[in-house]
Amino acid sequence: MAIRNLRYEDDEILKKRSREIEVIDEKIKELAQDMMDTMHKWDGVGLAGPQVGVLKRIIVIDLYEENTQYTLINPIIIKEKGTQEVSEGCLSFPNKYATVKRPKEVVVEALDIEGKKVKIKAKDLLAQALCHEIDHLNGIVFTDKMEPGTLEIVKPEENGKK
Ligand code: CO
Repeated sequence: MAIRNLRYEDDEILKKRSREIEVIDEKIKELAQDMMDTMHKWDGVGLAGPQVGVLKRIIVIDLYEENTQYTLINPIIIKEKGTQEVSEGCLSFPNKYATVKRPKEVVVEALDIEGKKVKIKAKDLLAQALCHEIDHLNGIVFTDKMEPGTLEIVKPEENGKK
C-alpha cells in the first residue's frame, strides 16, 4: 500500500489532457492500487491519474457500498441522459464545494484492470462521479463548470476532516 501525493488546485497538471494507456503492465496495476489507497485515505469517492501527477487515462471510484468500486482505464462516455444539479467537491480542492450540472445517467465504456472491456450504466452519484473523473482526464476540474456564486469553503473542523 502506497499513498501518493495529491496535486492541488493551482497545479498546472490538472489542466492537462491525459494520454491513453496502451499496455496495462505491472506499473499501471501498482498505480491503480496506489490511487485506490490514496482515495480511501482521504475518504474520496473518485480519483483520476492527474491528481497523483500521472497524465494517464485511469480513474478509480468507490461509493462505499457493495459493488461500487471501479478501476477504469481509458474510460469514455458513450451516452448521456437527463441532468442533475449536484453539490460537488474534489480531493484536489480540499474543503471546497460548489453546485454543478451533470447528466442524470451515463453509459461509460472502459477497460478494467485486467484489460477486459466493461460497460457501466450509471445514474445519480455514480454518473456524477464518472463524469467528474473523466473530466479530470481532459484537464477539466469541477470549478470550471460550477454554477456562478455557488462556491463554498467549509472549514476543516466543520466537516470533521483533516
Ligand atoms: Co476531482
